[in-house]
Amino acid sequence: MRINKYLAESGVASRRACDKLIADGRVKVNGKPASLGEDVADGDEVTVDGKPVQRRTAHSYYLMNKPKGYVCTVKDDKDRKTVMQLLPAGVGRLFPVGRLDYDTEGMLLFTDDGDLAFRLTHPKNEIEKTYLVKIEGGITDVELGRLCSGVELDGKLTGKSRIRVVAADKRFTKLHVTIHEGRNRQVRRMFEAVGKHVVFLKRIKIGDMGLGSLERGAVRKLTAEEIFYLTNL
Ligand code: URA
Repeated sequence: MRINKYLAESGVASRRACDKLIADGRVKVNGKPASLGEDVADGDEVTVDGKPVQRRTAHSYYLMNKPKGYVCTVKDDKDRKTVMQLLPAGVGRLFPVGRLDYDTEGMLLFTDDGDLAFRLTHPKNEIEKTYLVKIEGGITDVELGRLCSGVELDGKLTGKSRIRVVAADKRFTKLHVTIHEGRNRQVRRMFEAVGKHVVFLKRIKIGDMGLGSLERGAVRKLTAEEIFYLTNL
């Protein structure tokens, strides 16, 4: 198979962008710089910037802008609507990567790539997720400081988080909150721990990857660049 096709199918980047990587000398086959139009065979070791490329043709990757009112399970025992019902027909057997609460909106990945799902959700990898949070009332610097340095949930401190107030009026405050853990209802409970009630919660970023213009309830395939980004996070 042509090296640019091999790289693109493995989620490195688009074929054209892969040609540029090859031309720039960033791709090696069995330790030697690759040339444009070169063929690779099973068993060849292909690297980009020294990192081995994992061959991945069989997997699927989708992004959903989850609306509230859906559970993140394949089947709900209370018969509520599930995110699976929002997937288009013919996508195969996908599963959601991690969870968002019933009342939470925003970025939800789906794949059949168990390795990627495991890496993105394993706490030791500390993958950052950013949320838009709307709370009732205001928030003081002292409360923000407590949230950033860690509050106690179930007898264990949360990890450090980054928080920025993005808007405030007399009734509500909106914040961007970046955490790198995925404890149950973590963001809602962190705010509860400082006496604040979350009225709206939306995941807006995984690492540096955002939702873009994907509408609420819509689903799209990830681009080769996004797959490459996530597999190298
Ligand atoms: N934190 C929450 O409280 N809920 C979510 O769905 C995600 C993070």
